[in-house]
Amino acid sequence: LGAGPLRGKRVLVTSGPTHEPIDPVRYIANRSSGAQGTAVARAFAALGAEVVFVTGPADVAPPEGVQVTRVETAQQMSDAVDAALPVDAAVFAAAVADWRVVGASDKKLKKSRDGMPALEFAENPDILKRVSHLKTGRPPLVVGFAAETDDVIEHATAKRDRKGCDWIVANDVSPATGIMGGSENAVILISDEGAEEWPRMGKDAVAERLARKIADALISKQEE
Ligand code: C5P
Repeated sequence: LGAGPLRGKRVLVTSGPTHEPIDPVRYIANRSSGAQGTAVARAFAALGAEVVFVTGPADVAPPEGVQVTRVETAQQMSDAVDAALPVDAAVFAAAVADWRVVGASDKKLKKSRDGMPALEFAENPDILKRVSHLKTGRPPLVVGFAAETDDVIEHATAKRDRKGCDWIVANDVSPATGIMGGSENAVILISDEGAEEWPRMGKDAVAERLARKIADALISKQEE
């Protein structure tokens, strides 16, 4: 492992979408590219951390120098996160599907004269919420993301309370911003110190600034 402020620290990053199968050839997914999570993992590695990177099927390749676990579903992501603990900090950048299909078929569903299949859904585990509330083995610093389209600070602050995480990186993903799927991000960091608005910058720059801020927080925790 390299030098850097995070040398000897183990961090977890989740990234990408999840795919929830309907049958062996069909699934439900979302438009997450995995770009922001991948950039966060890369930035942590550049600061010398041991990085466990748990990724759904993303558009972008995982960075060099991290331990990659590839998953497909939310349940698999949740299990991979458990297997990665304990860590010094965890960043949940994945766009986890909220629902999965109950009783996904192990055979391809056929068009039939009986009409269309009715899909039943069940709620997926909320990984961020669960890890934030762990009684033992909770990472000392848990960071979530919040994609909002309106009242960003208010909604993200409520989300931080609900999830029980330490920080929320909130962004405005309303279509006019071009952030979803784009290369730039404009974020507001919500912590118990309030809301800190960062200027619009590349997703790589957001990741570097976030990784550096996490490094500073871990170092000051260590000195407490
Ligand atoms: O509730 P919402 O999906 O808006 O919360 C977003 C945050 O929660 C992100 O950090 C995301 O990675 C995390 N999350 C999770 N497991 C879920 C849903 C969201 O870890 N099932």
